[in-house]
Formats: sequence, C-alpha cells, structure tokens
Amino acid sequence: MTDKRNLVTITTIYQIMNTGANIIHKDPKKFVKKPNLSDYEKTYKEFTWKKAEKEYLDFFEDGTLNASYIAIDRHAIGKSASKNALLFESATGEKETYTYGQLKDLTNKFANVLDLHGVQKGDRVFIFLPTIPERLVVFFGILKLGAIAGTLFSAFMEMALMDRLLDSGAKVVVTNATLFPRIQKIWKDLPALEKVIIVERGSVDQPKGENLIYYKHEMEKASADFAIAHMQKEDLSYMLYTSGTTGKPKGVVHAHGDIVQAMVTTKFVLDVHEDDIYWCTADLGWVTGVVYGALGPFGLGATSVIFEGRFSPENWYKVLQDYQVTVWYTAPTAIRMLMGSPVSPKEYNLSNLRFLASVGEPLNPEAIWWGLEAFGLPFHDTWWQTEQGSITVTNYSVMDVRPGSMGKPLPGVIAAVIDEDGKEVPVGEEGHLALKPETIYSLMKQIWGNKEKFDSYFRNGWYLSGDKAFKDKDGYFWFVGRADDVIKTSGERVGPFEVESALVEHEDVIEAGVIGKPDELRGEIIKAFVVVKPGVEKNEETKKRIMAYVKQHLAGHAYPREIEFIDKLPKTRSGKIMRRLLKSRELGLPEGDTSTLEDY
Ligand code: WTA
Repeated sequence: MTDKRNLVTITTIYQIMNTGANIIHKDPKKFVKKPNLSDYEKTYKEFTWKKAEKEYLDFFEDGTLNASYIAIDRHAIGKSASKNALLFESATGEKETYTYGQLKDLTNKFANVLDLHGVQKGDRVFIFLPTIPERLVVFFGILKLGAIAGTLFSAFMEMALMDRLLDSGAKVVVTNATLFPRIQKIWKDLPALEKVIIVERGSVDQPKGENLIYYKHEMEKASADFAIAHMQKEDLSYMLYTSGTTGKPKGVVHAHGDIVQAMVTTKFVLDVHEDDIYWCTADLGWVTGVVYGALGPFGLGATSVIFEGRFSPENWYKVLQDYQVTVWYTAPTAIRMLMGSPVSPKEYNLSNLRFLASVGEPLNPEAIWWGLEAFGLPFHDTWWQTEQGSITVTNYSVMDVRPGSMGKPLPGVIAAVIDEDGKEVPVGEEGHLALKPETIYSLMKQIWGNKEKFDSYFRNGWYLSGDKAFKDKDGYFWFVGRADDVIKTSGERVGPFEVESALVEHEDVIEAGVIGKPDELRGEIIKAFVVVKPGVEKNEETKKRIMAYVKQHLAGHAYPREIEFIDKLPKTRSGKIMRRLLKSRELGLPEGDTSTLEDY
C-alpha cells in the first residue's frame, strides 16, 4: 500500500506573536499531487477577479449564465457525462451513485415540475430535507428555473421555520413525510406558501391533503428537456437565514455569479482536483453545505460523497475508508469529538486522504496536532461567513500552517484588522476583522427586505465581519472572538434573540437573556438566564421542561444546554438586555462599562 499523504515537517519556533506556536512546514515536492495553488505570494500578486471570471464563468452566447449550467450541464456533455458526480449512502446503508449526465436530466425534470406548478423567476422555493440526493437535485433545479433556493436545516422546528418562510414569502417548500408536520402546523399563517412538494423516499406513509405535490410521481411525468433560465451575474440564486445580535434571523441573498469564488476556493484552498473524491460534512441547511457541498465541487466537476447517517466516529471513518475519500472538509466540533473518542482512525484504511480542512469556529491547535498524529495530515483552518459566500481568509496546501491561525487572505481579497475609525491597527494589536467589499466576489447581494441591515455591514469603505482578530508580522490572521453576541455552538450560528423569543413563549417564563458559554467540545454552548413567574419552582424539573420546549419548538440544536434562574435581567435604561454583563459575570471577568445599566 502506497502512502498517499502529503508530507510535512514540524519545527518548534520561538514565539509567534506570543502564541508560542509551532510551525508545520510543507514540502510540496513530496506531495502526492501538485497543489492547484503552487505559489501563494505570486498568485496573490497576479490574481484578479476579472481573469477569474473569464476562466470560471461559462456564459451563454447572449452573455448571460446560470450557476446550475456551470455546476451540472456543462459536465454532462461528452466524456464527463458518465463521470460520477455524487456518491450517496443512506442512513440505513443503501448506496446510490449519480453521474453528471443523470443529474442534468433530473435537475431539468425538477425545473419542469416547478414550472408546471407556477413557480417563476425570483420566486422563493425552500428546501427542508435530510441529506439525500433529492436535496441537490431540487437545489440545482430551482436555480435552473431562475427561482431563488432557500435552504433549511432539518433540525428546525416550527418557530424557526415560521420566521424564515414568512419573511422570505416562500411560495413552495420541498420536504418529506417526516418533516412535513412542522410545516403543516404553521401553513395557515404563511399566506404566500402555495404548495408543498413531498419527496417520497423511505417507506413511511405519505401525507395527503390539498396543495400537496408528490416528487416521484411528478418527476416520472416530467420532461428531461428544459430551457435553462438565462441569468445575469447579479441575479439572485440562493438565500440563507442567519443570525445577528438583534432581531429575528436575516435572509442573506447570493447571486448566480457567486459561483466563481466558490470554484476558485474549492480549487485553490481545498485543492480539489478532477479525480478527487471529496467529502464536505456540512449540512445543506448551512452556507458551507451550499457553497462547498454543492456549488464549488460541482462547479469543478468533482465527485462528492454525501452521507445521510448520523455522526459517529465509526460511521465517519467508515465513509472516509469505503469511499476512499481524498479531500475532507469538516468542522472543529466534529474533529474534537473524534479526538475524544476511544475509536481510533488507525483501525481504518484512510490512506487515500490527502487534504484536510476545517471551518465554522476556531480550530484549536490541539485538534491540528491530533489530526497530524491520527491521519498524518494537518487540518487547514478556513475562515468566512454566510454573508461572504466563500472562503476569504485561510490556510493553503502549499503554505506552512501556524496552528491556531486562520491563515492569509485569498488571492483577490483584501483583509485587514482595523480600529473604530477604519484605520489599520499595528501588527499584533487586536481589532475588527474587515475586508474591502469590492474584493469579495461572492459577497451577499442583499439582506432580504432589509436595506438598513445590509448597509450596517459597511463602514469607511470596509465590510465589517463582526469578528475580532490580530495579524502577526508575517501576515497570518489570528481569530480572537466575536465583537457581538452571536453564538457559535458546534459551529452552528445562533442568534441569542431567537432563543430568548422561544424561551419567553414558555408558560413559566417572564424574561430570558441568552449567551454563548465557552465549552471545550462544542466551542460554545447556549446558556439562558431565566426569570420565571411567581410560584414556579426553581428546580431541575422546570429547567428540563424549558429546555425541552425550546428544542421542540425552535430547533433541535439551538436550545440552552444550561439554564440559570435569575431574579432580574441586567438591562440598559432603554430596556435592552445586557448580555455582555451576563457573560462577564458568568466567566468571572471584569464587568466593564455599566454606566448605561438601569437601576439594578
Ligand atoms: C465564525 C460559516 C474562527 C466567525 C462559514 C464567523 C470562525 C462566523 C471560523 C460565521 C474560523 C467561521 N475560525 N471562527 N475558521 N470560521 N467562524 O455565517 O465568528 O455560519 O463570523 O459561516 O463563524 O458563521 P457562518
């Protein structure tokens, strides 16, 4: 058995910006495959988005395009039509493969189904499904028609669904028999929702009712020919709801042309080559699943694995082994869970693995050291956000890794650490991580129906990420934390307001304040401070009831794992909950400026 790993060496160096980290040195000459990006500095100097557009965008003769054509149809011509695009394994172990040719036909059929049922360009069609091939067929089918695809995490319950479907004015939802009851509960309050499509995969009884459409039934009748919608680069393609500090989740909307940066990064950062077997473990309900589970790898014509089963070290190592995965894009919490498990990756044959990357939350150095020991390869940390639509600050196959650092800006992207006035701060000093908006090709095009929110991201010519960071003397960026109250739990972004709103719906609760509490495994957990009604017992039973309520009504992942009863929440004089103060007190930190605190 040949060792297919990329060789690295490690040197302990003096202090890098006082982190005392070691450097993982690369020797690309010893790599199994020549990296797609062979010289970071040179590429950074020479790269322009204009040139990338020419290389990656396939325009129709009239100068328009369609991201689904780029991702699917153009690979379905000639020899690559029979290339495997998708390798699927279901939760019960059934295996299916789909070629680019087959996906072209299926996505055309689905676009025809939508057309037949009155969906038009610009309409919002939401996908609420588990990780099954139909999810991708539906996604690319929606884009073919020129409608906007919204994706939803399958752990969402009716409150989370209500906010997203109402705000977006979704016309159609595609779901299955298991998830449909959550939609059914709120349908009467969603005036724009005309039809629900049920994907019949599985043996459960199918729901029946007015305005329900059955996927398989419709697909069998549909034509495999479809006149794909001709779109402009700026025309909207997909949307995702994401959380900030205040208010309900916001609809971040992206455009067809954004696929350029998805492809550039899949190639330069994830180093995906034509013959790679690539596995992105993110759910399509989150941005990583859309960009690196769909647009990027399909855009490059690669072969992707999708796995419906639950996370467990055995399941995941088996997928890596059985599909001979070469490139693996995953998240820190998963890595830490693997790390803490008694199941060793050494019990599996993972010798095809060649490149590992991670996203979503800080990747702690220990996880990188463990990866090196377990797989003989370092995990490459990548940083970006839903709003940015693709990776922007990152590590590269060819570049030395400084464990704990997010790496350097993508060629084409200008990033900096700035102060409140938009001035760059000196090396090593903490500040706001900001990017020049015109250099992020896949930057969101709008926040759905909320121009004020959209505008609030931009100041002094910068796009403000809301993250704090510092840069070392060699240009590596280091993540420090969020500048606001956004919570990252197991890599999933949760807005405290959404959880607080769900908590106060519970009959025992008067008020609630929610924070992210540091957690070794999950990065952060959601902690709620709750004021209960007089007479309610402040005991474990009550806590459990409240937790279960949020889990069952808001989302399976976004419930407080810890609850503390409090007599009164700290608030500003204008009535805003001071979550910062709750957090400082929780962590035993100085309370900072409390001059705006109401009498307490
Ligand atoms: C955090 C996920 C540290 C960060 C693609 C950011 C990270 C937010 C990293 C965006 C990383 C993402 N190191 N923190 N490598 N990657 N984050 O929109 O706070 O779900 O602002 O996008 O996740 O989360 P989102």
